[in-house]
Amino acid sequence: MKRKEINPADAYALLENAIFCYQGEPAGTVAAHDPALDALNYDQCFIRDFISGALIFLIKGKTEIVKNFLIHTLALQKSEKRMDCFEPGAGLMPASYKVIYEDGKEELLGDFGNHAIGRVPPVDSGFWWLFLLRAYVKKTGDMAFAHQPEFQEGIKLILELCLRSRFEMFPTLLVPDGSFMIDRRMGVYGHPLEIQSLFYIGLRSARELLRSDNEDGSSYLQAINSRLGSLRYHIREYYWLDLKRLNEIHRFESEQFGENVANKFNIYPRSIPHWVTLWMPDRGGYLAGNLGPGRLDFRFFSLGNLLAVLGSLSSEEESQGIIQLIEERWSDLVGRMPIQIVFPAVENLEWEILTGSDPKNYPWSYHNGGSWPVLIWPLVAAFQKMGRPELGQKALDLAGDRLITDEWPEYYDGKNGRLIGKEARRYQTWTISGYLLGKMLQENPESLSLMSFDEDPEIQGCPV
Ligand code: GLC
Repeated sequence: MKRKEINPADAYALLENAIFCYQGEPAGTVAAHDPALDALNYDQCFIRDFISGALIFLIKGKTEIVKNFLIHTLALQKSEKRMDCFEPGAGLMPASYKVIYEDGKEELLGDFGNHAIGRVPPVDSGFWWLFLLRAYVKKTGDMAFAHQPEFQEGIKLILELCLRSRFEMFPTLLVPDGSFMIDRRMGVYGHPLEIQSLFYIGLRSARELLRSDNEDGSSYLQAINSRLGSLRYHIREYYWLDLKRLNEIHRFESEQFGENVANKFNIYPRSIPHWVTLWMPDRGGYLAGNLGPGRLDFRFFSLGNLLAVLGSLSSEEESQGIIQLIEERWSDLVGRMPIQIVFPAVENLEWEILTGSDPKNYPWSYHNGGSWPVLIWPLVAAFQKMGRPELGQKALDLAGDRLITDEWPEYYDGKNGRLIGKEARRYQTWTISGYLLGKMLQENPESLSLMSFDEDPEIQGCPV
């Protein structure tokens, strides 16, 4: 098939075409516009899907749609959520929303996971919302918008959900399976990296947005500061994997008791999978997918690692290491379409047990090792932040004309991403905006500040 040349103006026109209105004003973008497939819930605006499009609108100075989106989702945070016996907790932000018509009147209906396949709660939504509110304020300079009482209350409700006391000692956030971009069963329950990176970014955003001139605000700020420090320490110290660390784990003693032991989480050396000892490059490394008692998930999860770099959750050295690892393992991770959501895929009995034999998450497909073009924007942004823009260009060159020829699929399948996803929708909005945002960032690196956080020396880590 003859390849078509990509024209950013056409891509932007497609993004605009995905916009829907509420009360006559642009309010969000639908997840996909595939004329050939049943809409299912792809006619809704997902918070996580909207982020890349929203950043594009902000960069282009079209701030109204982002403002409306923030206002509507905030209002939905308090809406009636119950369905059947599934009742989301107060403060949860919806996964998605859409306009419905009741008695001839327009209304917004949020889905908090109580309608979703598998009834999965969107833990990431609140953090993405905080990230976007911060980007909006950075772009417009309108701090008074975030300082309005309803917004302050919304921020605090999200904080209530994640900072309140729990039956837990870890500083990371304990979440159920499928509560983020991977919204199906994939063995990602517990303390998955993607949520920890978003949690850190969400807390850092809230810290910039909360008013500190009252007692209530200051007590939240105190709680945020202390959690940021312990979370950062925990991730840098215990999630980091490289050849040196693998060697340490390989020689770990187990069943150690007490405060000052090396193997704090009782990880058994035999749990190191063979693939990782072969795959780990001599230079570079990455943050593990998950950590719990007796459990270290060695899989490489792209979004969690890229967001750790963007949020400065990983140290400068670790962030450099993550970029090096992507460069060293380019053919596995980027292959023919940037970038695989997770590496490697789980197969055979492991696939049966971890996914519950989910045919959509078959090895090297969809969430189980498929390639997602939406991840181009955090990839390009992380390369940019770590001073390696040429790698971002390489990724963009790979994707560009192929995406337009294939009509912007949701995801790709196969070990190196050469096949269009088996059940992928075409004209998937975040595929269009993920690529376009990457391209815009490459051309205007100053936009990086909307989505990136510098290392903050004021955050105090735990004592070593
Ligand atoms: C799928 C993806 C989810 C995305 C949604 C809409 O459910 O797993 O991450 O938000 O589609 O595109």
